[in-house]
Amino acid sequence: MNLYSFFSTLLILHFAVLIPTLICVEGRNVGLKEFISRDDDKTSQGTRWAVLLAGSNGYENYRHQADICHAYQVLKKGGLKDENIIVFMYDDIVFSEYNPRPGVIINNPRGEDVYYGVPKDYIGKDVNVGNFLNVLLGNKSALTGNGSGKVVSSGPNDTIFIFYADHGAAGLLGMPSTSGSLYANELHDALRKKHKAGTYKNMVIYIEACEAGSMFEGLLKPGMNIYVTTASNADESSWGYYCPEEVPLPPSEYTTCLGDLYSIAWLENSEKYNMKTESLHKQYEVVRRRTIEENTNPGSHVTQYGDIKQLRNRSMYTYIGTNPENDDYKFPIKNNSVQMLSHSINQSDTDLIHFHLQYQKAPEGSDNKTKAWQIYQNAVQQRKYVDACMYLIGKFLFGTAAKASNMMKAVRPAGQPLVDDWICYKAMVATYEKYCGPFSRYGFKHMRSLANMLVLNRRRWLTLQTMLVLQFARALFSTDYMRSPKFHIRCFVTHSFYEN
Ligand SMILES: *[C@@H]1O[C@H](CO)[C@@H](O)[C@H](O)[C@H]1NC(C)=O
Ligand SMILES: *[C@@H]1O[C@H](CO)[C@@H](O)[C@H](O)[C@H]1NC(C)=O
Ligand SMILES: *[C@@H]1O[C@H](CO)[C@@H](O)[C@H](O)[C@H]1NC(C)=O
Ligand SMILES: *[C@@H]1O[C@H](CO)[C@@H](O)[C@H](O)[C@H]1NC(C)=O
Ligand SMILES: *[C@@H]1O[C@H](CO)[C@@H](O)[C@H](O)[C@H]1NC(C)=O
Ligand SMILES: *[C@@H]1O[C@H](CO)[C@@H](O)[C@H](O)[C@H]1NC(C)=O
Ligand SMILES: *[C@@H]1O[C@H](CO)[C@@H](O)[C@H](O)[C@H]1NC(C)=O
Repeated sequence: MNLYSFFSTLLILHFAVLIPTLICVEGRNVGLKEFISRDDDKTSQGTRWAVLLAGSNGYENYRHQADICHAYQVLKKGGLKDENIIVFMYDDIVFSEYNPRPGVIINNPRGEDVYYGVPKDYIGKDVNVGNFLNVLLGNKSALTGNGSGKVVSSGPNDTIFIFYADHGAAGLLGMPSTSGSLYANELHDALRKKHKAGTYKNMVIYIEACEAGSMFEGLLKPGMNIYVTTASNADESSWGYYCPEEVPLPPSEYTTCLGDLYSIAWLENSEKYNMKTESLHKQYEVVRRRTIEENTNPGSHVTQYGDIKQLRNRSMYTYIGTNPENDDYKFPIKNNSVQMLSHSINQSDTDLIHFHLQYQKAPEGSDNKTKAWQIYQNAVQQRKYVDACMYLIGKFLFGTAAKASNMMKAVRPAGQPLVDDWICYKAMVATYEKYCGPFSRYGFKHMRSLANMLVLNRRRWLTLQTMLVLQFARALFSTDYMRSPKFHIRCFVTHSFYEN
């Protein structure tokens, strides 16, 4: 089959999506009567711990590290101590060749530096799943030789606040570079261990990622004293914010988004108001509105999980402290006037914007222009390739393209986890990547399809067929493949996903 005719008939790349499709209205006009549970402000307040993690690297993902640095500043001003804030960030942004302000990271168009003073606990390769889980579990010995070795050595009266920002996919969150993703079952195993160890009182988890709800849907059991909000439900994109050529504009020399919509919403709320008078629920409402309701188009659905009823009236102060300068800053009375119209960008498309702007900005005829064009084209080709692989697999398995599309996009009813067999799901993703190459952050959107192949078709023969299709796809796109066709079958058989 001719590769190019295959592509040209098959693929539509959403250049149009480069144009932002979301209009948001920023507002702080929450008129709800505040209600803070008495249970909080007692002397039993233990230590406030926090784990902040940016799951990406690359200048095109600037915003995730910017969100994390900003969160550090908020917690620090809130009174948390450095010894209790553990930061994971790849740390490749601030001195990137593309950063117009070396040594400085900003998270909004006004441009205050948020990089200053951020502890470099775990950077570069040390930002990975194993280290994150060991830090959370307080397993110091497992971290020997990794980063600062700082862990959450919390006690039974302590609170833990976790904030994660990156791309996500069905049932997983990204980690930088090629280190493996964090799968939902791994996170929940760790949370169960932590709960069993009795080493926290309450925990709050904030997640900025596409399909972030799929990390918790049907998975977080009640009674764990954990309250979660996610930027998106189990099945939708989350959004970049303060993006180039959008409103509000980042400074013109920036070719990348400065933040993410949900993250900016909670951070800008937390740094402005008195957290002693704000409940978890109040912040959820403010963030939810800014992320969807005050938009004129879909946005994403900020979603709560865990012990919502038990914890929603607790004060934000219990988890993130409060900046004493904000003590008198109460919420304004209801004010429906539109303060600012703004646009955000689908997280999947933010990288293309950066690559294309670099191309546009480079001087005509320069080496930089050629290089920038290649980078851009590689990203576009990679997208086409992933789309084509998945299309092919789906069509082969389900017959027609339409049928494949329905099956592969299916979402289980609320309250049910993405898949039941996480080991198998992870093995399937690994197998895909082995034969067809990495999914990439763009390809994350196809992972639900693999999950659905497991859920909808549990019989062994179908998995076998999947493997054959994967090989077929590989054969189409790679000449290397032909060298060792038998290897793939062997690998599959030894994996033996389905024992019964
Ligand atoms: C936790 O708080 C309770 C009640 O305030 C107190 O009795 C207990 O000693 C505290 N435990 C620790 C480990 O601090
Ligand atoms: C090429 O880009 C690099 C950084 O991206 C920059 O330092 C250099 O000045 C550029 N060269 C030209 C000729 O624009
Ligand atoms: C800590 O990690 C090490 C190495 O991974 C492991 O052997 C040990 O069981 C862990 N300890 C606890 C308390 O989880
Ligand atoms: C980091 O931790 C891992 C897992 O506990 C360990 O295998 C590795 O040797 C450590 N890295 C260094 C540089 O010591
Ligand atoms: C929690 O706060 C809401 C208002 O946000 C209030 O209606 C409700 O009664 C409170 N519930 C508890 C258990 O305090
Ligand atoms: C409502 O907000 C607008 C824009 O920020 C402001 O000009 C106006 O004074 C506010 N009205 C009230 C009643 O606070
Ligand atoms: C986000 O962008 C990706 C890639 O262009 C697309 O597949 C997806 O449907 C978009 N999501 C939304 C909500 O627009």
